Amino acid sequence: MIAAIIAAAGSGERFGASIPKALIQLGDRTLLEHSISALSSVADQIVVSAPAGYEDQIRALVGNDITVVTGGATRSESVRLALATIENADFVLVHDAARALASRELAARVVAALKAGDVAVIPALPEVDTVKVIDANGYVTSTPDRTTLRRVQTPQGFTFSVLKSAHATASDATDDAALVAAAGHKVRVIDGQERALKITTPHDLATALQFMGSAQSFSSGVGVDAHAFGQGRELWLAGLHWPDEVGVEGHSDGDVAAHAICDALFAATGLGDLGSNFGTSRPEYAGASGIKLLKETYLLISNAGFSISHVSVQIIGNRPRIGARRAEAIATISTALGGAEVAILATTTDGMGLTGEGKGIAAIASALVIKCA
Ligand code: CTP
Ligand code: MG
Repeated sequence: MIAAIIAAAGSGERFGASIPKALIQLGDRTLLEHSISALSSVADQIVVSAPAGYEDQIRALVGNDITVVTGGATRSESVRLALATIENADFVLVHDAARALASRELAARVVAALKAGDVAVIPALPEVDTVKVIDANGYVTSTPDRTTLRRVQTPQGFTFSVLKSAHATASDATDDAALVAAAGHKVRVIDGQERALKITTPHDLATALQFMGSAQSFSSGVGVDAHAFGQGRELWLAGLHWPDEVGVEGHSDGDVAAHAICDALFAATGLGDLGSNFGTSRPEYAGASGIKLLKETYLLISNAGFSISHVSVQIIGNRPRIGARRAEAIATISTALGGAEVAILATTTDGMGLTGEGKGIAAIASALVIKCA
């Protein structure tokens, strides 16, 4: 019986998205779903450590056969919390959700080495750079012999008892093999894979797409929307409510920024436009919020095999002042678009034209998308 733990509870600070890294989309699926598919071929039981607050969303994503626990403040703690739910197993594999493209074949080789008698098995690649040890002041203290160094990956495999005892204390390390080695066990190193890279930054995501062989083509689109101010209406703009501002006319919430982004995404993907997707023939969308339309658009383009590389929108109008709430608006829109990179700009038009005369608000958006195989 083989159990697998997927550490997915990190926030992904270095990635910089407004959603946890494990929920970032890579091609047609999230990083978490990719990492599960690598392990599901060898594991009888899978436990995922989820970021606090995302447990239900992750349960819905991964289905009933997978246990979801709340992770901890460190990776080691997240692994320990998952390990506590495993009652019995011969072997346990521990994998980073961030290593989304580790293959089934790699997981199978880890298991084969465990079955051959090793108690701890880790995949690793040779170090290509010269590595220095430095002191707190940034001065080099030594240069380890590069030929003895390895860059370590996951899935790492252990016998259940060895992993249990290594995690019996609350010690912390960046991988499980460090704890197992500190407990005095021999750790076998097997060949790793370049495609099992740890996705840490947006650049790594682009690299991962190339490994998928699916960074096939980029395409871009532009979308525009404008609405006139209307007394007695609430203002919704860029996914936010602006309580002290005059709202705009329209049968929806009139969020011109959200609507322009939807149209830019539809233009980039060739999937029609706001009207053809959510217009009068689809009464269920009458009065839908801008954020709901963004989420629906994101679903439609994801299902058609597109990933969002970048979205930007420029709001054109005298009011409201966007600057103070820019970060909040970016986070709201990015979350609706699966963690995509979003830029929000604003400008006035020097008193000229519809929005310069203070009659309404407009927005122009552009989107860059990647078509995946
Ligand atoms: N992880 C975890 N619990 C934590 C911290 C990290 O389960 N408290 C997981 C991450 O979700 C990730 C793996 O450990 O799959 C490797 O960590 P890393 O790549 O550093 O991810 P993050 O900690 O999320 O990223 P960052 O360090 O940039 O914030
Ligand atoms: Mg981290």
